Amino acid sequence: MIDLRSDTVTRPSDQMRARMAAAPVGDDVYGEDPTVNALESAAAEIFGKEAALLTPSGTMANQLALKTHTIVGDEVIAGRDMHVFLSEGGAAAFIAGVSLNLINSERGIVKAQDVAAAVRAEDIHHPPTRLVWLENTHNRGGGTVYPLSLVREISEVARAHGLALHIDGARIFNAAVASRRSPAECVAAADTLTFCLSKGLGCPIGSMVAGPADFIKEARRWRKALGGGMRQAGIIAAAGLWALEHNVDRMEEDHANARLLAERLCDHPLVRIDMRQVETNMVMIGLDARVSPAELAAGARAEGVLFLPFGPERVRLVTHLDIERQDAVEASGIILSVLDSMR
Ligand SMILES: Cc1ncc(COP(=O)(O)O)c(C=O)c1O
Repeated sequence: MIDLRSDTVTRPSDQMRARMAAAPVGDDVYGEDPTVNALESAAAEIFGKEAALLTPSGTMANQLALKTHTIVGDEVIAGRDMHVFLSEGGAAAFIAGVSLNLINSERGIVKAQDVAAAVRAEDIHHPPTRLVWLENTHNRGGGTVYPLSLVREISEVARAHGLALHIDGARIFNAAVASRRSPAECVAAADTLTFCLSKGLGCPIGSMVAGPADFIKEARRWRKALGGGMRQAGIIAAAGLWALEHNVDRMEEDHANARLLAERLCDHPLVRIDMRQVETNMVMIGLDARVSPAELAAGARAEGVLFLPFGPERVRLVTHLDIERQDAVEASGIILSVLDSMR
């Protein structure tokens, strides 16, 4: 099977497994796991933040960030189609107890003036606005990279209103590689960020939150309260260290394979792909009304290619560590022949 459903489907390589097996470990809840400590220091340094914290998942990392930034009853400005709103089980409402003030976006990118307009005036009727939330790259937007100038502009809006800025950087390394910026540059204007080890970096488990030391100290307390305190987690952290050392620059290959897929598919009369929108490791394919996303996905699955329907007239293809150039060539051939059978 050529699995293009998500970059979460990767399996750890033999070298990554060897590093995991050999990792020195201790009890991380006591702060005694040397490999976790090394990963947390490395992540903080890479992003130019004071401290970082390992979590089991991106969802937990995001929820810890929300919980630590806010108090119950606060409001958070976020794009309508962000993961934190759409795909985290409504956790913002029952873990942090915050409401999300959802603003429009184009391919996941919000405008600074819309952020400014969403900030609540101080009024007994209003929830206090506390935080602005961005997602870079943007998943539902199709792997969109936030322009750095826009992140800076939004951070100025946030500062002007005394708000914090968080970046859900589940795929921040894709953004950094695609825009040829350092990861630290991509998040310099934000107070805090989350990123995932288990997506483009190819680890089996793990995400991280990074930010000021006192913020991470409090997030660590919430992590324990939510059951995310892990013991000999160095086994997980070792995979993260391996990935940070070996799997960042190679994301360029994933981006090239996404472009290859898009180029080979884009001329088919039943699909709409804007090549300018293939920025990182995702290809969003708009479909003619005659093609049902579910039928196209089922047809391709029968021929050995997996991908997900993504709304009423779209499918999404995601490239990753376990997809070679030849897989992209083969997958595009199969998708084209299934499309031909639907004409
Ligand atoms: C942008 C974004 N944030 C957060 C997450 C959550 O990560 P996890 O699946 O590890 O909970 C995802 C997962 O796809 C994501 O795409």
